[in-house]
Amino acid sequence: MSTSMPIKKAIFPVAGLGTRFLPATKAQPKEMLPVVDKPLIQYAVEEAYAAGVREMIFVTGRHKRPIEDHFDLTYELEMALEQAGKEELLAVVRSVKPEDMECVYVRQAQALGLGHAVLCGQRLVGQEPFAVLLADDLMVGQPPVLAQMVEQFHEWRASILAVQEVPSEHTRRYGIVGGAAVHDRLVEVQRIVEKPAPQDAPSNLGVAGRYILTPGVFDEIARQPRGVGGEIQLTDGIAGLLRREKVFAYRYEGKRYDCGSKEGFLQANVELALQHPTLGTGFRDYLAQIKL
Ligand code: G1P
Repeated sequence: MSTSMPIKKAIFPVAGLGTRFLPATKAQPKEMLPVVDKPLIQYAVEEAYAAGVREMIFVTGRHKRPIEDHFDLTYELEMALEQAGKEELLAVVRSVKPEDMECVYVRQAQALGLGHAVLCGQRLVGQEPFAVLLADDLMVGQPPVLAQMVEQFHEWRASILAVQEVPSEHTRRYGIVGGAAVHDRLVEVQRIVEKPAPQDAPSNLGVAGRYILTPGVFDEIARQPRGVGGEIQLTDGIAGLLRREKVFAYRYEGKRYDCGSKEGFLQANVELALQHPTLGTGFRDYLAQIKL
């Protein structure tokens, strides 16, 4: 593997059932739930594109066709908009998949966990460093969070995990890292544990859903027995990788919305609506006048 390579490929694990959003996700993928006016998955794909990624690898499952349709050409819609002279809307539709972006799909036949989902992308990734983005985590940052991580990757030439401080009562929700501080924003990881109890957590740095990984992680995941929740965990694969290579945890600049939870999803909608170029002002006025 050459670590001087740019990060050209990203894996998006999108096979999950989305049971926390039922009934909204009974017949549609949770990744297609819109935050303001864009589906969650589009935020993640745009973040990857902004970081230089051009090959988007979706690890899908049953009922995920709408994701494939979203990143496909919509010939009739485009024709109709073109004929109606709706240039702005046409540009919005076309920008979903820029011409130099490729989307590929691989099925995760069994829901065996995040590590297993990443492993499903192994053949498509090959021997290159790659990114993993979990669309549930909507990240807002300037520069975008994955671009910050790509910069770190080029500096350290090793796997980079996005981390943030989490309250100690929440360690059971995250992969938690422990290690030695390199500087303010960077930790050389010595341990990583999936969803530990607060008393077992090596620190309060929780992994957010953004990873840049070297391809050695695939063999490590493949070696793992089932971990927390009976699933093949990405965290356990990274713990294996740590014994062979350096791994860094990077405290990104920006904000994460946990759109895997209803609260986080609602917060993302409110805050992104407030920042929206055309809706923001009116929405702010509306919020100011409703009685709480
Ligand atoms: C997954 C990972 C966990 C990580 C989290 C970030 O957990 O297993 O290590 O901290 O994503 O969102 P999940 O939220 O899918 O249970």
